[in-house]
Amino acid sequence: MIRKCLFPVAGYGTRFLPATKAMPKEILPIVNKPLVQYGVEEASEAGVHEFGFVTGRGKRALEDHFDISFELEHQIAGSGKEDLLTSIRDLIDNNSFAFTRQNEMKGLGHAILTGQNLMGDSPFAVILADDFCVPEKGHDGVLAQMTALYNQFRCSIVAIEEVPADQTHKYGVIAGEPMKDGLYRITDMVEKPNPEDAPTNLAIIGRYILTPDIFEILSRTEPGKGGEIQITDALLEQAKNGCVLAYQFKGRRFDCGSIDGFVEATNYVYENIYKEGKS
Ligand code: UTP
Repeated sequence: MIRKCLFPVAGYGTRFLPATKAMPKEILPIVNKPLVQYGVEEASEAGVHEFGFVTGRGKRALEDHFDISFELEHQIAGSGKEDLLTSIRDLIDNNSFAFTRQNEMKGLGHAILTGQNLMGDSPFAVILADDFCVPEKGHDGVLAQMTALYNQFRCSIVAIEEVPADQTHKYGVIAGEPMKDGLYRITDMVEKPNPEDAPTNLAIIGRYILTPDIFEILSRTEPGKGGEIQITDALLEQAKNGCVLAYQFKGRRFDCGSIDGFVEATNYVYENIYKEGKS
């Protein structure tokens, strides 16, 4: 069973400046809910109830969001607005939240390694909150799809999607042997390749399940592309020594780390989730 989930949220969110000058990118709202809360809800629906956050300077709002605000609850009691706090209060009551800091921005692999004390020695999930995912109709959430696969295969799993060839330079890209519908056993991974160097157009997005041996590998992984410690380099070692799966999830991803993706997600949620909830 996957019980823990790590959120690396130390990045500066420079693409959203000046909005992110004093506010974490993960607190930006998609309609009326912060981006990070959608990720926590997705994990909670997958049966994960212990959350770790790797934060950095200027991220205090994240800790406050996952803490009770007695003053606010007292203030709105009897005003008819209590329901607006129900979803976050339920999350706070039914899950635990722990925080640690990445002091230097040395890449996603380093951020995950920084979360080792919070994740311990069990397999765990990783969610990049700026990849906002919605499942295909009739399917579980994306992380629940992945935890079901983990229960079957017991190895690290990355979520992938097809991207246009001219976009491969933004992602880790995999090559793999097809196992069954949408599932590959990874044979190669390249971080942010130019189209001519990309082995496929299957790009890793921000959902991972990692077995805890990843920490030992990360601790001796040298900085790679961009001078950062890359999770793809550590995963490639895992893949070569054993097995790492890539799963083409059933659903849709919005790249909320970019302005265009963020606006698309906002429109989608407003039309398909927020308005439907109101009617
Ligand atoms: P990004 O590079 O996409 O996010 O990292 P960013 O740095 O926040 O945004 P921009 O590019 O400046 O606009 C992907 C994810 O990895 C985390 C980020 O918080 C983000 O969720 N990350 C990245 C860390 O936590 N630490 C790092 O050293 C690097």
